[in-house]
Amino acid sequence: MNSIKVAILGFGTVGEGVYRTVETHQEELAAVLGKKVEVVAILIKNKQKDRGIGNEVLVTDDFEEIMHLPQLDVIVEAIVGREPAFTYLQRSIQKGGHVITANKEMFAYHGEELKKLAEAHRVSVGFEATVAGGVPVIQTIQQLLNINRIKKIEGILNGTSNYILSEMRVNGQTFPEALKAAQDKGYAEADPTNDVEGFDAFYKLLILSEIAFGEKPVWESVPREGISSITEEQITQAENLGLRFKLIASIQLDGEKVIGSVRPTLVTESHPLFNIEGVENSVSIEGDIVGRITLQGPGAGMLPTASAVIEDLIHAVLETKLPEAEGTRRRSLHASRDQNRVQ
Ligand code: HSE
Repeated sequence: MNSIKVAILGFGTVGEGVYRTVETHQEELAAVLGKKVEVVAILIKNKQKDRGIGNEVLVTDDFEEIMHLPQLDVIVEAIVGREPAFTYLQRSIQKGGHVITANKEMFAYHGEELKKLAEAHRVSVGFEATVAGGVPVIQTIQQLLNINRIKKIEGILNGTSNYILSEMRVNGQTFPEALKAAQDKGYAEADPTNDVEGFDAFYKLLILSEIAFGEKPVWESVPREGISSITEEQITQAENLGLRFKLIASIQLDGEKVIGSVRPTLVTESHPLFNIEGVENSVSIEGDIVGRITLQGPGAGMLPTASAVIEDLIHAVLETKLPEAEGTRRRSLHASRDQNRVQ
């Protein structure tokens, strides 16, 4: 049986999660796709480290070696930062591979260019994992847009910040202790400045803005503040008054203009984000027809993020140019979508 050949660029928390999940979920993937998914190559930084990767996988620090493989159907990018990730994905698309990224910074800057390039090469770009880890925010917005105009999106988009605020409040940890724990659990970015200064939530907000409103706000006009200056004393004082700090990211249409912000906010018990604790993300989406819906779940971490990447992989294979994929769920997936359209 011909298999779907996948390369993973980067073997940090997300890259490893994708590799392990493909290994442990072969049966499920074969049932959905009608063929095996095979990780054939992994791009790593340091070839000396032992990572428990099977001998059949090409493990290399040379991206060009991966590009020379004879068959490559899907390229998963889980690197940090704009470059070389953007260049690698351009090359992958030009080679005819579907691409999937978990890299919010790169996608906030270059997402639209990648989508255009992919369209020209008749391949897909998956980016569900760029926002809210395992929570299917992107596909939900895309689905809502079939009939709704989105008015506003608001929520907690950075798991690390929420985790730190919870640990400081509930377990009395200091900021450095809570940050270290978030890093050990694989929630934080390689450079946690992005998490605690609000950049990570800001990039996610830009990505959501582009799909919901077809444009981004003027970047410089978005107030962006993280949680790094919130002290233990402030958290305790707030707690005594029945209040909690939450890092809230928000984007909305103001007339024809898109406006947004990322900032720590004190919320009362009646606020929908009051009880969102730990690494959880929560995103409310307001559509003109559906009203307000809220999604909640693990916003970071190895397996939740891998789940989002693999959902994208399944869509790439089922919805695009790999016609041999005729798994059993394909028919039921399409049947339920058609039903939704008719209703
Ligand atoms: N560092 C990110 C977070 C990872 O804490 O939310 C998921 O995007």
